[in-house]
Amino acid sequence: MTQVVACSSEVGVLGEGVRWDGRSDRLAWLDITSGVVREAALGPDGWLRTERTHTLDRPVGAVAPAGPDGWVAAAGRGFVHLAADGTSTDLAEAAVGQAGVRMNDGSCDRQGRFWAGTMAEDESPGRGALYRLELDGTVTTVLEGLTISNGIGWTADGRTMFLNDSGPGTIDAFVVDPASGDLGSRRTIATFGGDDGVPDGLVVDEEDTLWVAFYGGGAVRRLTPAGDVLLTVRFPVSQTTACAFGGADGATLFVSSALQGLDEGARVSEPDAGRVFRVEGSGGRAAPALPYLGPVAPG
Ligand code: BGC
Ligand code: CA
Repeated sequence: MTQVVACSSEVGVLGEGVRWDGRSDRLAWLDITSGVVREAALGPDGWLRTERTHTLDRPVGAVAPAGPDGWVAAAGRGFVHLAADGTSTDLAEAAVGQAGVRMNDGSCDRQGRFWAGTMAEDESPGRGALYRLELDGTVTTVLEGLTISNGIGWTADGRTMFLNDSGPGTIDAFVVDPASGDLGSRRTIATFGGDDGVPDGLVVDEEDTLWVAFYGGGAVRRLTPAGDVLLTVRFPVSQTTACAFGGADGATLFVSSALQGLDEGARVSEPDAGRVFRVEGSGGRAAPALPYLGPVAPG
């Protein structure tokens, strides 16, 4: 039976970006607007205990492991390295000169490149893009004309890439060349909206099925690569934002949530909004977050 329980004592205004860190067996998660990255161990009581916190001077949309104990963050309008000792170093700009735009979700592919997208703070249609931090430290613009570039992931063979755009509510599948990262044909496998919420973060599990968090829908849905819904897991909060498998056996599904967008009534009826949840017995499993393998000093 699937069990959903709150597991963070802290609350995020825009709690987001859960990633299981296989180096330390910790969960990293974010509060995007406050620029906070937390690294937390899962205690024997099933609650997360924050062991390290990074506070950036800008919003942080996503992190990926880098080196033995650091991170690369998609933050502000570009990429930043976060060292374990608290130092942060700007690596590269992405959305150069784009006022009102910030980095949002991102993830690494198996080749170690970090793909991360952007959105306009006011969610203006078409102002988002998808960027790739390459293995030589340069940035490539991969796609333009997105609205809220969000969850991204790949099948195990690296030949299909999934990308959510929370503006139109779409989950797109792209043919991708794993070696070069070049994108081929694109098709929308599913579109959501209304009471279902919009697709936000995603993780692809070891069976190549997608687990997608629905912002405004209080749910995580498991979908086939063709876009068919296999399972809907419901949450006691409506702004579910991102998901990652982790824990000792990679089978605990961690799901972040946000307070953002809830009126006073909703804050009362959703007392756990903004916390991280853990889902046991979902039937999915995945490897820890893939690392960025390029240079982490500015080029
Ligand atoms: C963004 C939020 C946005 C939400 C739903 C998140 O990834 O960071 O600003 O409201 O997706 O669209
Ligand atoms: Ca997101």
